Amino acid sequence: MKGLILSGGKGTRLYPLTYTRAKQLIPVANKPVLFRVIEAIRDAGITEIGVVIGDTGPEIKEAVGDGSQFGVEITYIPQDAPRGLGHAVKIAQDYIGAERFVMFLGDNVIQGGISALIRDFADHADWNSQIVLTAVDQPEQYGVAKLDDEGRIVRLVEKPKNPPSNLALVGIYMFDHHIFDATAQLKPSFRGELEITDAIQWLIENGYNVYPHVHQGWWIDTGAHAAMLDANSLVLEELTPEIAGQVDDTSEVDFRVTVEAGAEVINSVIRGPAIIGRNTRIVNSYIGPFTSIYHNVEVENSEIERSIVLEHSTIRDIPARIQDSLIGRHASVGINGLRPKAIKMHLGDHSHLELL
Ligand code: TTP
Repeated sequence: MKGLILSGGKGTRLYPLTYTRAKQLIPVANKPVLFRVIEAIRDAGITEIGVVIGDTGPEIKEAVGDGSQFGVEITYIPQDAPRGLGHAVKIAQDYIGAERFVMFLGDNVIQGGISALIRDFADHADWNSQIVLTAVDQPEQYGVAKLDDEGRIVRLVEKPKNPPSNLALVGIYMFDHHIFDATAQLKPSFRGELEITDAIQWLIENGYNVYPHVHQGWWIDTGAHAAMLDANSLVLEELTPEIAGQVDDTSEVDFRVTVEAGAEVINSVIRGPAIIGRNTRIVNSYIGPFTSIYHNVEVENSEIERSIVLEHSTIRDIPARIQDSLIGRHASVGINGLRPKAIKMHLGDHSHLELL
């Protein structure tokens, strides 16, 4: 089997962070989501992986390279524009050839990996496709599957007003080569994209076997700010803590905290689950649960909780607690103490600021 990761797209829901960064490279619990996806596929025993890339291709190539750092072999598949998930599969045909493959959205995180479902698909040579479903509270906000009495999928409906089940599609799909017959037939949808759900519907209508795998743990599409923070919290809860950096005697560090090598915690309180990145300094501060501070960050005289702070940023002397926040790279948040008292900012397009 081969793997196919979709890592192009526009990432508009994560503006402004995604003006300057591929969303798949934003870290949750200090590891880019895309790295977690590659590791999940590798841990399921698949080492040949195609990665579909778009405008952000150069930075993805720089971060992932040839895949040897993960023990896999990566082939990049350029997509000229984000023309839909169905289009991304269509252009991967030469790479995939006649093999069966798993397709994984590069911005999704799933609890427990994908080994069980890869085994499930491998054990059923007569299945042409298997799609991962999970029970959700508000199925009308998702793509939803209708199953027949034998458990086979009979229909997929996008954001249905009257959902036929509470089983929503997760961004992981398995196919054999018949999917390319389906993608060859696709026409752009109302939003102008080639939809993977239409391709799967084509398989069903043409007599191919499409079965579900119902996933029991959590699964998050990190494509929006709130979801990114949720994914960060869930992954942090599963991290095995390790103190590799320096924690001084006046600091209090919870047992569910990771302090990476070269990090320094000085006169501060850190409550887990939380992670402090390489060469980051936390001074006279409080870092609360569900917080990931990435590499080379300075936090001084401040309090941060349930947030993600990216590399090379500085947070100093903030009088209120920073919470539920995503702070980009090389950002600077501080107080200058000068008169007249005023709020100064240089915010990028689509930035979001909530003051007390
Ligand atoms: P989406 O989150 O559906 O799309 P997007 O990345 O354009 O984001 P937004 O809606 O915020 O503008 O994409 C899911 C994953 O698939 C993501 O990793 C990007 C990738 N993708 C492609 O590789 N090619 C495509 O044509 C599309 C639509 C998405």
